[in-house]
Amino acid sequence: MISKLHTAPQLLLAQFADTFPGSAQRQVHVARAPGRVNLIGEHTDYNEGFVMPGAIGFYTRVACSSNESGSIVMRSVQQEEGARFAVDDYAPRPRHDWTDYVRGVLIELRRTGCALGGADLLIDGRVPMNGGLSSSAALEIATALACLRTCGRTLGPVELAKLCQRAENNFAGARCGIMDQFSSIGGRAGHAILLDCRSLDATYVLLSDKVEIVICNTMVKHSVAAGEYNRRRAECDECVNFFRGKGLEIASLRDLSHEDFRRFGSSLPEVLFQRCRHVLTENSRVKQAAAAFEEHDLAAVGRLMYESHASLRDDYEVSCPELNVMVDLAKNVPGVYGSRMTGGGFGGCTVSLVEREAVERFKIEIAGKYEEAIHIRPEVYVTALVEGASVEE
Ligand code: GLA
Repeated sequence: MISKLHTAPQLLLAQFADTFPGSAQRQVHVARAPGRVNLIGEHTDYNEGFVMPGAIGFYTRVACSSNESGSIVMRSVQQEEGARFAVDDYAPRPRHDWTDYVRGVLIELRRTGCALGGADLLIDGRVPMNGGLSSSAALEIATALACLRTCGRTLGPVELAKLCQRAENNFAGARCGIMDQFSSIGGRAGHAILLDCRSLDATYVLLSDKVEIVICNTMVKHSVAAGEYNRRRAECDECVNFFRGKGLEIASLRDLSHEDFRRFGSSLPEVLFQRCRHVLTENSRVKQAAAAFEEHDLAAVGRLMYESHASLRDDYEVSCPELNVMVDLAKNVPGVYGSRMTGGGFGGCTVSLVEREAVERFKIEIAGKYEEAIHIRPEVYVTALVEGASVEE
């Protein structure tokens, strides 16, 4: 019987037993992985630049048990539709649903020698979907951890993040960078992660206890998002080629100096000039924000967040009216240091840094005014930064 006293993993185990009645005698492994919010450093990860995300208290859990049946059976607590695939043929092609992320991970795991002879998987996804909070990375990381444990294998955090990024790049079809997967496994309680996306060196930035991170979900996701994301990446590649053509030895936009940008940039086509300017200035903002956090200068962090939003809106053109309204509304609420869109853009969420005492008023005002302006009720989440993914025994 399922009682309210069950912890989340126990509850999932009980649901697992209901979903897979034959599993009673088998060992079941549960892993959980959090979503993430990015404080600053957007669209810089795939340019080998800097980002400052943190893991948040929304989790996806995956329960996995080996069934040696030659089939992988995938079921979800939230989604009606499940799937069954033969282990030697997970993946003729993506189906453009949640199973793509699971299958992408299984394929990459098999390449590393972690091959399941058959397994039952139950997924409990609690990271809001389409919110730009990395529900897909959480699903990938939790799947990988649960399956690795079932195979009796382990992988280091960086290898795990890279494996899950490959799953998304190679199978699910998004050319995402490493930020989301890294945050989900590399999170630390109370800290943001200052990540160098080239070396993957992470430094942890302690968040002041005077502020809360408040996430406002616009509840919209524009359908252009995936196509535009891949287009931005291609534009960045074009920029790199342009500067190489000028004789600069750069491997990515990370290597371009502000000086060389000023020197040669004016002959770039206008759109590419803007994209490039965003990446350069955003990388600088991340480093400035890390220094400002060190100095407890939250006002400076907030200014950088607003500047980041303006740059994403005007130069990188990945914002949308709903996100802009949400950020503009935040500016006028007392006790808000800064606010910006977070994640890939074209909808999803904003992240705001709000004085602890001002949070309750902020929640009420922003929700009311956004609904008045856009006629959609937003969701507002106040969340701590949490530890990264783990296996729960
Ligand atoms: C998505 C991608 C990340 C990153 C952000 C933008 O979340 O998955 O890799 O590029 O967009 O910063």
